[in-house]
Amino acid sequence: MDLSQGLMLFFALLISCIILFSSIKLFWRRGDLPPGPTPLPLLGNALDVGGDIVHFLMKLSEKYGDIFTVYLGTRPVIVVTGYKLVKEIYLDKGDDYLNRGDMPAFDAFYKDSGIIFTANMKRWRDLRRFSLMTLRDFGFGKSSTEDRIHEEIRHLISALKDTKESFFDPRQCLSKSFYNIIFSIMFGNRYNYEDKEITTILTYIYQAFTTISSSWGQIYEMFPWLMRFIPGPHQKINKCFKNLTKYVDGRVKINQETLDPNNPRDYVDAFLIKMEKEKINPNSEFNMKNLLACTLQIFFAGVETMSTTTTYSLLILMKYPDVLAKVHKEIDQVIGQNRGPTLQDRNHMPYTEAMVHEMQRFTDLIPMGAPRRTTKEVTLKGYTLPKDINIYPMLTSVLKDPTCFKYPTEFNPENFLNEKGEFKKNDAFMPLAAGKRICLGESLVRMELFLFLVSILQNFDLKSSVPLKELDIAPIVSGLGNFPKPYKMAFIPR
Ligand SMILES: *[C@@H]1O[C@H](CO)[C@@H](O)[C@H](O)[C@H]1NC(C)=O
Repeated sequence: MDLSQGLMLFFALLISCIILFSSIKLFWRRGDLPPGPTPLPLLGNALDVGGDIVHFLMKLSEKYGDIFTVYLGTRPVIVVTGYKLVKEIYLDKGDDYLNRGDMPAFDAFYKDSGIIFTANMKRWRDLRRFSLMTLRDFGFGKSSTEDRIHEEIRHLISALKDTKESFFDPRQCLSKSFYNIIFSIMFGNRYNYEDKEITTILTYIYQAFTTISSSWGQIYEMFPWLMRFIPGPHQKINKCFKNLTKYVDGRVKINQETLDPNNPRDYVDAFLIKMEKEKINPNSEFNMKNLLACTLQIFFAGVETMSTTTTYSLLILMKYPDVLAKVHKEIDQVIGQNRGPTLQDRNHMPYTEAMVHEMQRFTDLIPMGAPRRTTKEVTLKGYTLPKDINIYPMLTSVLKDPTCFKYPTEFNPENFLNEKGEFKKNDAFMPLAAGKRICLGESLVRMELFLFLVSILQNFDLKSSVPLKELDIAPIVSGLGNFPKPYKMAFIPR
């Protein structure tokens, strides 16, 4: 954090020089925008962010309420908090806020290609429709996917048994199983856990995502035009993306060489076939650039979402041994030791189901959501917002909304149980956003999370390498994503 503050000072100097030459016009066009802290020219509210943007914004909402304006550099952002107003953006008036906001760390590389970050509505719509359909065909939410997950779980359990109760950081081992599941959907095969390639690629993904979420990444988000020229850890982001793209490019070539147009094996095959079909359409979104971007983005999100959520979950379960004991008991009662879990078991395991939901709620994977952009002039809580303005729907404020959850700030599966101990749905449970732009892999995530956590707990007791008191479950970085501090644990066979 010191580095980032030093950097801020440097900016302040540099920018005060620029300001001397900039005209009055550069000053803020506040107009009708909701109130917020007073911005400085060019810097906006950057000096106040202090390397922890999530905390900064949530603090502001205590003062300004559930809608306010901040300036990230020169870019005004409308920050929205609480279930009621965020729901209006995602669901009630979803179409008015459907476009993607600026994400400079990604935009520098994906400048308008692919599915997640594009602000081109036609591109998004065409690619999203195709991807949803194709991913459904190749598995999301299908029994064939459940089989694939079970196969991967067998590999994981066996790898965990091989660790012979020694202490290690479980993240990479877990990541490899999620890597394999999404990889086989996208490219058609899986890897051995010993494979060097998978380790390298996982490192790129983890580095890119944690760097974007760090203080350096946050400064980059505010001053992309300047940070591009300044050395620092944020330079890694583009290098990681470059390497990842090169890798995906190579994998796509392998699919191309072995493609049978009548027999698509996976997402990439289906995309290649669609490209061929639309070759004569000059407005087609199905081209190599979008293929690479979509594949990489879905892959990246699939690996990262699951790795972080499960790594975090195991840490939290160690911190809450009473919860762990209750889950163990339910597993023993409902499943026993003679078979693995199935998705059907969810209906008979309310406590475990509540625990899994509580994990997603409490770990709060993407605390600020992904930024949205208005598709036209809109009225929100009496304010008139212009077309194309950035909106931050603060997911963290929904997942921890005290009007929606009994224990908003603590980890407690009771948040999803009624008085009779039955599982209770909650509309404010939207860890991966909601509405038309909800995370593509949402159903896959829910399947994986239940099956993996239950299988691991069916087979193992979890042992922390440090006393319970010293287990720290606060995130190590909190920006675009929330990441647990790296930790060591042992898996003790039951
Ligand atoms: C990208 O790949 C090159 C060549 O394989 C390697 O030297 C470099 O360190 C990689 N970049 C990052 C950020 O890991």
